[in-house]
Amino acid sequence: MGEHGYYMRIERSTIKGCSNSFLLIMLSLLCWSCNDDGLVGIENATEVHTKLSEYTIFQGKLSDLEPTNNFKVYELSTELFSDYAEKQRLIKIPEGHTLISRNDGLPDFPEGTILVKTFYYYNDKRDHTKGRKIIETRLLIKENARWNVATYIWNESQDDAFLITTGLDKTVNWIDAKGEGKVIAYRIPSHRECTSCHYNSNTIFPIGPKLRNLNKDVLRNGIVINQLTHLYNEGIINEVEPSSISVLPAWQDAAKYTVAQRTRAYLDIQCAHCHNPLGMASDRGLNLSYETDLNHTDIPDNKRRIIERMETLEMPFIGTTVVHAEGLELVKAYMESL
Ligand code: HEC
Ligand code: HEC
Repeated sequence: MGEHGYYMRIERSTIKGCSNSFLLIMLSLLCWSCNDDGLVGIENATEVHTKLSEYTIFQGKLSDLEPTNNFKVYELSTELFSDYAEKQRLIKIPEGHTLISRNDGLPDFPEGTILVKTFYYYNDKRDHTKGRKIIETRLLIKENARWNVATYIWNESQDDAFLITTGLDKTVNWIDAKGEGKVIAYRIPSHRECTSCHYNSNTIFPIGPKLRNLNKDVLRNGIVINQLTHLYNEGIINEVEPSSISVLPAWQDAAKYTVAQRTRAYLDIQCAHCHNPLGMASDRGLNLSYETDLNHTDIPDNKRRIIERMETLEMPFIGTTVVHAEGLELVKAYMESL
């Protein structure tokens, strides 16, 4: 158990220490009641490994991020902004099972599903041959019908990554696409921060792999193919007809989508995991889910506040320390049009 057991003990004793008086009253509000940072926290269903290498997600040199055969790459139409970090997303479904689609939202995930998200920066975004720095790898693992979260911080030699449950700020230097040198105080979220975003009616939940967010064309083995069809061919999902599934607009795609569509998709992925009737900000009227009719979102009444929060980062955005200039510009244009 080693290091991991130590972390788990700290988390448990923190929760236990403050809970005695609340425990009998309202178990479900346990962590909410105990912390004044406004975050909610949920414990893992089971324990997780101490080192990333123990999962055999990658083969060969770990830092090449070359997935083993069980893990398949997937992409999203619109992704979460995380301080300009690059990301790789992988999914593993146990042999003999698949994701089962329900509608255009999240599918059913079989026991043993693993979702993997690795964050890195190119040293120089203009020239990838100058190498990259991998910062952390986040996991969601379904066990005993519940999800576990875990994140692993990569070491300097980039040959393994280690479990970290308490969060950490890490200085990262990189050069952006315009050749400008950047310094980010990158935030690796704590376990409690993970579960505040991946939160749905008091359980931990995946966010990204909704069918509408996977329903896009991807380039695989030199051919352009619909991703849902590709994932079916790879044995990851049951057969679905892509044309029967809606599409979450790609927020950058100004040629294909209106400002309204792009903004709503952007707000869905950046904000709706908290701002929906089952999320951690459910006590506010704001509902920023893409599928919610504008009249029921409360966006028109919050135009100025939405822009202010994005400008000041005065929000439990968690993991975002710089303003997303391109996203803000889009949201402003939309709010002005309302
Ligand atoms: C600020 C909110 C937020 C925090 C904090 C956060 N996540 Fe996420 N996470 C998201 C969103 C939104 C997505 C989907 C969009 C994307 O991948 O770009 C996501 C995606 C993921 C994925 C890919 C599967 C999925 O659900 O889409 C994994 C794995 C993951 N997160 C794990 C973690 C772990 C572990 C932590 C804590 C160390 C964490 N996340 C913290 C918002 C968050
Ligand atoms: C990690 C969860 C989380 C995320 C992600 C998040 N919010 Fe919030 N938001 C909250 C909570 C909790 C509150 C209430 C506490 C407060 O006012 O700070 C709130 C309050 C607000 C308010 C004030 C609403 C009111 O009724 O007072 C606005 C506006 C808002 N958020 C906009 C956004 C936007 C826009 C995004 C995405 C770009 C976003 N939020 C992302 C958790 C979140």
